[in-house]
Amino acid sequence: MGADRSPALHAQGDPRAARKGCRGDPGRLDDRFATARLNGLNLSPRELRAFRRVKFLGCGSAFYVGQIGAQLVEDLARMPADAEAASEFRYRNPLIEPDTLYVVVSQSGETADTAFAVAEITRKGGTVVGVVNAVGSTIAREVQGGIYIHAGPEIAVASTKALTNMAMAVAMLALHLGRLRDLSVADGQRILKALKRIPDQIQQILEADESIKLVAKSLAQASNAFYIGRVRQYPVAREGAQKLKEISYVHAEAYPTSELKHGPLALIDDQLLTVAIVPDDDLTERNIAAVQQVQARGGRVVVITHPNVDLQGMDVERIDVPKSEPELDPILLIIPTQLLAYHAALTLGHDIDKPRNLAKSVTVE
Ligand code: G6P
Repeated sequence: MGADRSPALHAQGDPRAARKGCRGDPGRLDDRFATARLNGLNLSPRELRAFRRVKFLGCGSAFYVGQIGAQLVEDLARMPADAEAASEFRYRNPLIEPDTLYVVVSQSGETADTAFAVAEITRKGGTVVGVVNAVGSTIAREVQGGIYIHAGPEIAVASTKALTNMAMAVAMLALHLGRLRDLSVADGQRILKALKRIPDQIQQILEADESIKLVAKSLAQASNAFYIGRVRQYPVAREGAQKLKEISYVHAEAYPTSELKHGPLALIDDQLLTVAIVPDDDLTERNIAAVQQVQARGGRVVVITHPNVDLQGMDVERIDVPKSEPELDPILLIIPTQLLAYHAALTLGHDIDKPRNLAKSVTVE
């Protein structure tokens, strides 16, 4: 199958889908009050203010979106938040707290582990809302409210454009919660403006596809890959490694960049390729130092970064991504990781639309 005819290609971080994700009736981005309008949550401002923490649940890529969401909620709403794999949550007799807002994330709305988490939370009297793509799906029906992400049918088996829209939806939720608390109008507007720019920025990334293709060739030749990212970028690294495993069958693991020195560095050699997420932020220097540590051990490095980051003449392969606001950068930094996995799979001759061992709806345990 030619690359350009693959349904999966057309599903990669799609700017049109991202535009639709911000729409709703009458439109989710509310300039007047610098917030997001999320009527589908079915929760009043008073009810939303009564929650003291937020917990995201999902599986695979949806779990990583939950991690992005937890960081966004902490950043914008200053509420404690975390994310957990729904597949683990269901087996540990979880404590369900009345003042926690549970948010399940699922593209298909049919993932059995996530649906079970919904049932468990509901049974124990908790409040659970969904961030879901498939309208009328099991999870969409069983949650008390939520945000449909309007990504359209996700054709790519390994979710791509839906992931972008799920991440935008959790950002809108964090903005909404923030503006019910202490997030200023100015900060609300800063986030709104950045959300509006995302579809055009996705387009820019897609236009750089040729250079991403070249980098993917190196990835396809590697026998092992590390993906590293710090704090907001750790879920980006996890998604990158997940997609490489799922569709290219190249062994890949993700680590928080700061954890490298606590063990994994021992594995670095010239057979291992490291994909480092190095955004332009207050941790750039630390991230560059980590890349240098990898290089000092003979490891090859691909850096996914922002245009004005000075890599100090380092001998690395570089992919530039347009800059957003720091809180939203992960949404754009993820897209090249998906494109890399896609092109690596094609280079290796794998049928991208029929990955082994992967079903869109994992309806079994
Ligand atoms: C499976 C797939 C993953 C997917 C996850 C969640 O584990 O292998 O690629 O991210 O399900 O799917 P969902 O439809 O719930 O988002």
